[in-house]
Amino acid sequence: MFSHLKPLPTDPILGLMAAYNSDSNPNKIDLGVGVYKDEYGDTPVLKCVKQAEALRLNNETTKSYIGLAGDLNFTNKMEHLLLGEHNALLANRVRTAQTPGGTGALRVAAEFVKRCNPDATIWVSAPTWANHMSLFEAAGLTVKEYPYYDYETRGLQFDNMKKVIGEQVKQGDVVLFHACCHNPSGMDLTLAQWQEMAELAKEKSFTPMIDIAYLGFGEGIDEDAAGLRLMVDAVPESIICSSCSKNFGLYRERIGACSIVAEDAQKADVANSVLLSVVRSIYSMPPAHGATIVNTILSSNELTQLWHSELAEMRNRINELRSLIVDKLSAKGIDQSFEFIKHQHGMFSFFGIDKPQIEQLRTEYSIYMVGSSRMNVAGISLSNIDYFADSVASVLANK
Ligand code: LMR
Repeated sequence: MFSHLKPLPTDPILGLMAAYNSDSNPNKIDLGVGVYKDEYGDTPVLKCVKQAEALRLNNETTKSYIGLAGDLNFTNKMEHLLLGEHNALLANRVRTAQTPGGTGALRVAAEFVKRCNPDATIWVSAPTWANHMSLFEAAGLTVKEYPYYDYETRGLQFDNMKKVIGEQVKQGDVVLFHACCHNPSGMDLTLAQWQEMAELAKEKSFTPMIDIAYLGFGEGIDEDAAGLRLMVDAVPESIICSSCSKNFGLYRERIGACSIVAEDAQKADVANSVLLSVVRSIYSMPPAHGATIVNTILSSNELTQLWHSELAEMRNRINELRSLIVDKLSAKGIDQSFEFIKHQHGMFSFFGIDKPQIEQLRTEYSIYMVGSSRMNVAGISLSNIDYFADSVASVLANK
């Protein structure tokens, strides 16, 4: 049964992570996988998480199942975190299932879409997170791209995006948006552009699916959720896939959520029954640990404040690094302008160098970035920035 199988290439992001881990160069720099790193290159457990875990250890009374939708305290807190005091919540139109990470949320959402409309095409930005395509295809959906990032101007191709979505997306299709901190480009829609997308969604009757994996990593919680909230307000139906991997630093706990916003409370109940049947058929029930941690934090004013300050520390570090990278590269006398890095959001930017240069950075200098030139700026620190800038300068000088 297995003998005819052909080996598949490793995932571009996870393969890079493994290559970095086995590199013995003491100067190596990991700008690959989207994991936050502090000044020392560590991804520490947040203090608020440690405190919540201590409480959990003392207070947990059972290991029984937590149910198909997961921890209802967690899902309730997530809905308010994502939507604020939103009309959709006041009208009881939102139903949420706790999922194994943001990827789990996307897969559940994809299966849900398939149940709603087996012929739906899901439209993703060009480019998008490397795993979006395979994940949606694995669920049996047709995937198509709409123009998004402009490699020439290092900005958005918004007019083209609008044209393709306006002309080619059909009623019953799904359009995937990144709420903030676009992965891989770091280029986000402005609120005015979200408004235009919301108008299109109404006009064309497509369903927006919003992937929010980096809430709080761009400008702040409310700022990063503003586009999502606007979109959810404008349309009768939408889907939100969220993750607590990055903003709570809970990567390996696999904690996320899939929220369905329906036209009214009754339709939301029906949609929820389908959502939970999807969950039952994939993994039956989610794990408890990450959900309890997030719920414990968000249920306590003190822990929430601590979380806000730790989240702000991560965000500020990323934003300071963006300026530092640009200034250091320009101080090395590199002709090419990297100014755009300052104006993007979240951990990622396309560095904008070509494949041989990316390869040379990896093989000669042990600097790892994804083959598309996506770099995780959080991999830079005060101790490696000069090595990074010198290495880039010498690679670009060989052009
Ligand atoms: C990334 O984009 O690097 C992260 O979301 C990690 C992953 O699973 O790809």
